[in-house]
Amino acid sequence: MLHLTNRRPGRNDPCWCGSGKKYKYCHQEFDNKLEHFETLGIQVPKHSMIKTPEQVEGIRESAKVNIAVLDEVASKIREGMSTEEIDRIVYDTTVKMDAIPAPLHYEGFPKSVCTSINNVVCHGIPSEDEILQEGDIINVDVSTIKNGYFSDSSRMFIIGGTDPAWKKLVDVTKECVEIGVKAVKPWTQLGNMSNAVHMHAVENGFSVVREIGGHGCGCEFHEDPWVSFVAEPNTGILMVPGMCFTIEPMVNMGTDEIFQDEDNGWTIYTEDDQPSAQWEVQVLVTEDGCEVITY
Ligand code: MF3
Ligand code: CO
Repeated sequence: MLHLTNRRPGRNDPCWCGSGKKYKYCHQEFDNKLEHFETLGIQVPKHSMIKTPEQVEGIRESAKVNIAVLDEVASKIREGMSTEEIDRIVYDTTVKMDAIPAPLHYEGFPKSVCTSINNVVCHGIPSEDEILQEGDIINVDVSTIKNGYFSDSSRMFIIGGTDPAWKKLVDVTKECVEIGVKAVKPWTQLGNMSNAVHMHAVENGFSVVREIGGHGCGCEFHEDPWVSFVAEPNTGILMVPGMCFTIEPMVNMGTDEIFQDEDNGWTIYTEDDQPSAQWEVQVLVTEDGCEVITY
């Protein structure tokens, strides 16, 4: 017999989504559809991955802070500033809005934000000694906890003018995210989104990091599913309304190979020292596509 992922309530019992409605008037049809895809051998989300309206509300409030923090960084970032100063802006702005920077003390991470410059792929640690210079490209990755709800997004900043090839890397990576967002369609597989992102990078002569990807986000910092940006079409978990995850490809100018800083255990670099770019948004899958809730 087929082993089903999700347990169903009785027809007249309250729906699992927390709406208070009877199951038969709420998610019963939805579950029929899930089971249909599961019979076809496609991985379907657990009910716990589907956000309730109340959770969506909480995540949106968290996202407002996340966006405001990135806007604040955008207005202040400049040549000569240390990444420690960016950390301070993130901490102060977040706390002022009654929220908590999610990275701070997360699995031992020492700062409130990740700042990843040039050949740093991700998880750069802000430092007093790291000064932004003309031509640098930097990813500022902000994550927020507000009333227990999580949001996550990151942007690239170019300090002054940079090498046109580096600017192209930054721009193409942003386009990758936009293309990924357009490829989020409910009742299709996550690999379609991943592949759309990957193809756009490859068509522009770039590579995409394989080992690190996106993630479900909202009730925890990192939830299932794990999100690849190199997967094949028609593979992976089914996307359905109510799922919330990040699209955050790391795009490299040279090789897709990376390595981790042995001293701090966090920072990831490109193997060939060439630059890497990343943009991140958090999306909520809707009935006809998705809503971008952080950018
Ligand atoms: N913000 C990163 C992400 O997008 C996670 C960083 S974990 C941290 O998933 F501890 F380094 F902040
Ligand atoms: Co993320």
